[in-house]
Amino acid sequence: MNKLIFALLLALAPMLGLAAGGGAHLDDAGIDLGDQASLQRGAKYFMNYCLSCHSAKFQRYNRMGKDLGLTDEEVINSLMFTTDKIGDTMNIAMTEAKATEWFGSPPPDLSVISRARGVDWIYTYLRSFYLDDKRPFGVNNIVFPDVAMPHVLWELQGAQKAVFKLEKGSSGKDVEVFDHFEPVTQGTLSAEEYDQVARDLTAFLSYIGEPIQMERKRLGVWVLLFIAVFFVLAYMLKKEYWKDIH
Ligand code: HEC
Repeated sequence: MNKLIFALLLALAPMLGLAAGGGAHLDDAGIDLGDQASLQRGAKYFMNYCLSCHSAKFQRYNRMGKDLGLTDEEVINSLMFTTDKIGDTMNIAMTEAKATEWFGSPPPDLSVISRARGVDWIYTYLRSFYLDDKRPFGVNNIVFPDVAMPHVLWELQGAQKAVFKLEKGSSGKDVEVFDHFEPVTQGTLSAEEYDQVARDLTAFLSYIGEPIQMERKRLGVWVLLFIAVFFVLAYMLKKEYWKDIH
């Protein structure tokens, strides 16, 4: 019995680890994958602001066009900067060695980052860069402390500083915990507009993390409807078969 409990605890341990991980509060991304305009904007931001450093090498341009309701011409003319072949995957020219030299840690491929981190994490991450002189690019991030990525969207968001407060940690000592952000310089967008940019980007990253998910959800409704109708038929049939016995 003891062994069983021990085994059970071991099996649960990774879940406890996950629950404790990070610590920072995550905001609800509120993305809507049925909103094609949001996904199209997300794709545009991704190509313009992210694809220079991050690849998405499991995603093809033409597949994206189809899923997002764009023609091949639209994709070629406004979304393709690194290749001229519509059937190509989203690669970048920067090598991993060069990236490590420049940033310390190379920018990871973002194909499945939404599955690894979750959409709320990405949404919060994109809105949580703050000024910090101790970092090489002058910014740090609340949900990814000491991140090697510069705040590439700073012109849109503006610069902000983080205000920390002291709280008693579990060891009894005072620890600094994040309280809130204060704007330092104004960006070209309002706070709400910038949140929408972060949301569009998060939606796009969620889409490339599982391109079939819109189709899966659409089909899922029909499958459930079919099961509901089939249940009624099966129940009537059962009644018919058993009526002489009961
Ligand atoms: C100038 C290069 C550069 C650009 C442009 C850039 N990033 Fe990054 N990004 C990095 C680097 C470097 C890291 C690795 C951080 C680390 O490991 O410390 C990173 C990390 C990340 C992570 C966290 C990955 C993880 O390990 O969990 C996400 C998410 C991310 N970037 C998203 C984006 C998005 C979205 C954009 C476009 C708006 C973008 N990045 C633009 C350099 C860049």
